[in-house]
Amino acid sequence: MTSDDASSAPDVLDVLILGSGVAGLSAAVRLTSEGPVAGVRGDTPRVGVLTKGELSHSATRWAQGGVAAVLGGDEDSTDLHLADTLAAGAGLCDTTAVRVLVDEGPGRVEELIAMGAEFDRQPGGALALAREGGHSMARVVHAGGAATGAEVERALVDATRRSAAAVLEQWFALDLIVEHGRCRGVRALDAAGRVVEVRATHTVLATGGAGQLFAVTTNPAEATADGLAMALRAGVPVADVEFMQFHPTALHHPAMPRPLLSEALRGHGALLRDAEGERFVDELAPRDVVSRAMARRMSAQGVSHLWLDATALESFGERFPTIDRSLRAIGLDPARDWLPIAPAAHHLSGGVVTDLSGATALPGLWAAGEVACTGVHGANRLASNSLLEGMVFGARLAESILEGREGPRPTGAMVAVLEELGAGAAATGGSVGAPDPGGDLGPGPGSPVPAGAEPDPLVARLQRAMFDGAGVVRSADSLEWAADEVRSIRDRTAEAGSVGGGRPYGERANLVTAAGALLESASMRTETRGAHARSDHAETDPQWRRRIVHAAGRVVALSAAGSVPEASGEIPVPTSPAGG
Ligand code: SIN
Repeated sequence: MTSDDASSAPDVLDVLILGSGVAGLSAAVRLTSEGPVAGVRGDTPRVGVLTKGELSHSATRWAQGGVAAVLGGDEDSTDLHLADTLAAGAGLCDTTAVRVLVDEGPGRVEELIAMGAEFDRQPGGALALAREGGHSMARVVHAGGAATGAEVERALVDATRRSAAAVLEQWFALDLIVEHGRCRGVRALDAAGRVVEVRATHTVLATGGAGQLFAVTTNPAEATADGLAMALRAGVPVADVEFMQFHPTALHHPAMPRPLLSEALRGHGALLRDAEGERFVDELAPRDVVSRAMARRMSAQGVSHLWLDATALESFGERFPTIDRSLRAIGLDPARDWLPIAPAAHHLSGGVVTDLSGATALPGLWAAGEVACTGVHGANRLASNSLLEGMVFGARLAESILEGREGPRPTGAMVAVLEELGAGAAATGGSVGAPDPGGDLGPGPGSPVPAGAEPDPLVARLQRAMFDGAGVVRSADSLEWAADEVRSIRDRTAEAGSVGGGRPYGERANLVTAAGALLESASMRTETRGAHARSDHAETDPQWRRRIVHAAGRVVALSAAGSVPEASGEIPVPTSPAGG
């Protein structure tokens, strides 16, 4: 099977990858390519990449800042990268997973360069490294100034097109097929809108994030929580979904997704100013800290946006050509104008729980990238760790499949899930049509309403409810109001019938399922931690240093002891004020 076979689903694949961002394509390339990154043992497996748009249309290509990896600088070390990641994660990172991330990251970046990715370089040829919020060192590799995701995606798409992977574009996965406690592929809509089964020995969720849950987001229209919702419906453990990270410096402009003003601008000295022109927060603090400070200041000053002042940055247009172009297109000159900004939903730190090899609790099902909860982000992702996570864990799961691994191991974020929920309970799964596990908030799967070209008013209502009720700062009351709204949207979604509504219906159903899980977790977590800020519980509560997990229809707060390993005392603490 080659990419020329894109029009038809093979009978049975060895590996079906859902999603074509950095995680999915890193796995695809590793599973199928010859050469130094192949990791192929024996026969090349039959791999299919299923994507609901075109291969290159993933959220990855929107990523601006870069890839954080220790690739230069005598003063930097993987220990410092680890310490910065743990500090940003506000006590909920899994230290072993972060260790894997920072140790294996540089090798994955070098492989990407060998594959053809071109990152920005200094005049002497060394990689140019930028600094972003929460990082104690300049260690962010970037391309085209702040067009890193586009270059990473270009290199991986080219490599995938050269590989033996079959590419199924304009297909939409509806639900996991679960038989006898194992995932066997997905039920999907093919490019012609027919419901088909795509059967596979291994299924990889690499479906990306959930930014479309919110009315204001930097995420593209594709980020509709599809993989997360499929996992929830099948009862596969999902954790940390209350931690939706809001990016502080999205351009305040009607365009959706919101144009991002990369954190790298602050790394180069851009300043945050309130409505009166005053600075009010360390620009290089971790994102949760900056977004919260902005939300408070906007509320206190009664304004809908604040300002990013990049007027002192030299050579803005040369350093950040894509941002410069998009600003000038709407009449803003960064050398002269302060730029209007407000926080926007950006990255989900949690997701489908995996072990250190990307295995979920359901045998035959793997996850990597934003849809996964490997434990590396904890309660708040460190800037530019997400492309890195996709590369590292996409490659690890490919290696594990090639080695013949089956089922999850008690490593990383999976340890406590297996210990406390048990392998059986976590892996029972559900087949198509199983009861929705999102408490009383989920819709039954696969009961679509008719599709239309117009924006779906129920989706718009859900997004507004989530942004207003579960945004940067939440409370019991705001969460309950949002839950009421989502329940009403769920009921109207379920009323409408079955599969014929196609992808728009499926995406709405997925958003409803994911919103239910997020709201339940956020209501349960009666504290402020990382990206989850509660006005009615403004302090961090040490009792809550544990994960909230949705599994097989239940929502469970894991015990504090089993949930998150303590960081080793040998890990150096960052000394910079940016350390968080
Ligand atoms: C940014 O460039 O500010 C976004 C990068 C990221 O989300 O890590």
